[in-house]
Amino acid sequence: MLHAKTIDFKKDKTEILVVPVCADTCLFHQVDLAELDQIAKKHKEFKGKSKEELLLYHPAGSKAERLLFIGLGKIEAVNAESLRRCAGAAVKIGLNKKLSTLTLAVPDAEKLPLNQAGIISALAEGAYLANHRFHVYKSEKKDPPLKQIQLLTAEADLKETKRRLQQVESICAGTCLARDWVSMPPNDKPPLRLAETMADQARKHNLRVTVMNEKELLRQGFGAMLAVSAGSRNPPCLMILEYRADKAKKTIALVGKGVTFDSGGINLKPAGSLEDMKMDMAGAAAVAATMLTVAKLKPDLNVIAAMPMVENMPSGTATRPGDIIKSLAGKTIEIANTDAEGRLILIDAMTFVLKKFKPDLLLDLATLTGACVIALGEKIAGLFSNDDELAQMLLAAGEETNERCWRLPLPEDYKELLKSDAADLKNVTGARWGGAVTAALFLSEFIGKTKWAHLDIAGPAFLKKADAYCSPGGTGFGVRLLCRLLEKIK
Ligand code: BES
Ligand code: MN
Ligand code: ZN
Repeated sequence: MLHAKTIDFKKDKTEILVVPVCADTCLFHQVDLAELDQIAKKHKEFKGKSKEELLLYHPAGSKAERLLFIGLGKIEAVNAESLRRCAGAAVKIGLNKKLSTLTLAVPDAEKLPLNQAGIISALAEGAYLANHRFHVYKSEKKDPPLKQIQLLTAEADLKETKRRLQQVESICAGTCLARDWVSMPPNDKPPLRLAETMADQARKHNLRVTVMNEKELLRQGFGAMLAVSAGSRNPPCLMILEYRADKAKKTIALVGKGVTFDSGGINLKPAGSLEDMKMDMAGAAAVAATMLTVAKLKPDLNVIAAMPMVENMPSGTATRPGDIIKSLAGKTIEIANTDAEGRLILIDAMTFVLKKFKPDLLLDLATLTGACVIALGEKIAGLFSNDDELAQMLLAAGEETNERCWRLPLPEDYKELLKSDAADLKNVTGARWGGAVTAALFLSEFIGKTKWAHLDIAGPAFLKKADAYCSPGGTGFGVRLLCRLLEKIK
């Protein structure tokens, strides 16, 4: 979908040519493009302020059918995210007008506080991601997506730009796949079916796929996972995806929470909190989609992913508050609240991965707590880690991709709150406060000395209202972040 193109828009036809414009500087030194910048600024309704748009039809001196100027504001405020948003806004206009091709003029790097590769990646990302919507269940197909997004490229840069666009396309395709899985309704993604859907893709990408079924989980003693799944008619499974590189020196493990629907179980959620709980497998979706991307990008690392998949339902067979179960690690857990199910499936999956693959790093992604959304809002993930270097790398990757993380503490003395009178641990504390922190502390009891980071993505995994380059539904949060992190690991 992304193409690098060397075209002369004075002679070659384009459906819509998009030109980013700064309020105080012309972003192009190429004369033709600089002339366009001048044209834009002749209109008094357009100053190049952030979010301003100006659309001209059949402008003189060019073969563009439409010329679209998008304001970026003052040059000092331009960054990768404002470029993503700018490209996203342009694509939205293209979609509204039912166009099939959109051509983007790429600003010069000397003028911006970003390098050329960063500019191209950001524009391409914003455009690709904005072109995705979840329409599978609509009987009447709405506006079709753009077929082609072209980035204007100088002849000399063609090869490098194509290479970069290919990378962006792999990462964004993964992000959109994760979005689709999260947006899919829960009646169409019970654990085994979701695993099969993911496995289909994984096999196509030559990843090694293992799906452990309920019988196998029972045989091996995944007591915490089975306790969560006990109330559902739909059996659970643990899916493992493996990518291996010949030159790999490190093994990275990714674990993603895969609750295909979280009713809360016997501690049933109230009405307002139930309607979007199909998104409770967003961690698993992000991790699986990252693996598909990894299979395309082929880093020199071994990457292993584990996705515990269950449905959390109330019924006569459901686990009760007060039940005591035995986790795969051997620790007994008093289930004080059946709605704190994510941590239960995660610890069994993490225990399995640590024992079987002995990873150098373990990262888990989970829509784990409403408390984290209260703390950080809907755009920022909570980050917990026992390793400062890993935490710093994730924070940096978050800034670069705008999949932002904020580090929260793992205070040793709070572990007291998770003690049970009857069992080794209980799955929730008695108090309301610090829910994201105590959930992370619960996980930390099962990590041992392995370098570990936990991302609570309950806020940013799902959108109720459209954003600059994401439509309502799953956001695919985590795919771009993890891909960037893997690039940083040496
Ligand atoms: N899946 C939820 C967390 C969640 C809340 C995700 C809102 C997305 C949006 C999780 O399983 C849950 O129910 N957590 C409880 C924990 C509580 C029982 C300690 C919560 O946050 O209320
Ligand atoms: Mn829950
Ligand atoms: Zn949940």
